[in-house]
Amino acid sequence: MKIFLAGNLGYIGTTMSHVLHSAGHTIVGCDCGYYKGGFIRGDAETTIRESVSRQIFKDVRDISREDISGCDAVVDYSGLANDPASDLNPGWTDQINHLSPARLAKLAKESGIRRFVFASSCSIYGAQKGDNLVEEGSPLAPVSAYAKAKIGVEQEVGKMKGPDFSPTFMRNSTVFGLSYRMRFDLVVNNLTGWAYTTGKVKLLSAGTSWRPSVHVEDCSKAVLAVLESPEDAVSGQSFNVGMDSENYKVIDIANMVKEIVPDCELEAGKDAPIDPRSYRVSFRKIRDTLKNFTPSWTVRKGIKQLYDFFAESKLDYDTFSDKRFYDVESIKRLISEGKVDGDLRMLGMKV
Ligand SMILES: NC(=O)c1ccc[n+]([C@@H]2O[C@H](COP(=O)([O-])OP(=O)(O)OC[C@H]3O[C@@H](n4cnc5c(N)ncnc54)[C@H](O)[C@@H]3O)[C@@H](O)[C@H]2O)c1
Repeated sequence: MKIFLAGNLGYIGTTMSHVLHSAGHTIVGCDCGYYKGGFIRGDAETTIRESVSRQIFKDVRDISREDISGCDAVVDYSGLANDPASDLNPGWTDQINHLSPARLAKLAKESGIRRFVFASSCSIYGAQKGDNLVEEGSPLAPVSAYAKAKIGVEQEVGKMKGPDFSPTFMRNSTVFGLSYRMRFDLVVNNLTGWAYTTGKVKLLSAGTSWRPSVHVEDCSKAVLAVLESPEDAVSGQSFNVGMDSENYKVIDIANMVKEIVPDCELEAGKDAPIDPRSYRVSFRKIRDTLKNFTPSWTVRKGIKQLYDFFAESKLDYDTFSDKRFYDVESIKRLISEGKVDGDLRMLGMKV
């Protein structure tokens, strides 16, 4: 299958292109390169280059019919990837996280590309009350512009479903683990990085919220499983992506980090705010529908993977806290250095 992968230079996208390519698919990558400096593994650049047959440096908002022509599937894992980056400017979030994927899906459908896979998020469940497991049909309670944009795409693109177009929405848990482009603003990666570089597992919230987690490799394999499933099993469907066992309260994740990283202690701010986003998620649908999807990474195993990598690469605090590993800080830097225009389009991008 020839797959157009938007966001292929991101945290998930770099691992996903490797996973899809290794499974025998051909990848056309597209990215505007917001986080160019964020590659952490020594083998990152080679792996990324070898995974794609063609790299398009372009804003997804400007993708043309020619760019996607000849592809069998369009997978969109681009966008402003968390609440803080999406809170910078509501206009950017609407354009990049809502209108752009909807336009890309329409372009794919008009071009006769049958499959479209979109990076949605479990954060659309938002502020759930209590400990009940939420399923795909449960009421949504978004608390951020980020989550509202994801819902907008699911609703709009969901309506495009038809005999010649099969969209699928991946409601990813919070992702963790080692990737080629690294993010340290995700909860497991962040807590493990704090513990390793400072000896303190620094909790930025009270830690009482439920948060499901999925490893970056499993999250990528879920997309592979969708693309390799019969269309009628996945068309118009939303899937929670993760495992029931990997629903934890943030404080439980912090305690796991404390157990695995030697010589560190928990540091919870006395007045740490309670995060209103709390959702405990059921993954029964993906387990029952995608028989070819077998996630294998627990949070515990992912913390150990990160710890081993940090030890091997001698990660220090300066590197861990560098802006390039934090989405919102990277975007703010692009703005202050004049590297983007008023619509957050990269200037002087190699096209
Ligand atoms: N990481 C998570 O925990 C998580 C959870 C749920 C959903 N998601 C979704 O998965 C997707 C990927 O997340 P990630 O963690 O890899 O984030 P990321 O920020 O590392 O990657 C996003 C990539 O998209 C690119 N991009 C952003 N806007 C673009 C545009 N307009 N044109 C071209 N390229 C653009 C960026 O340059 C970057 O390489 C996002 O849509 C995110 O909302 C992520």
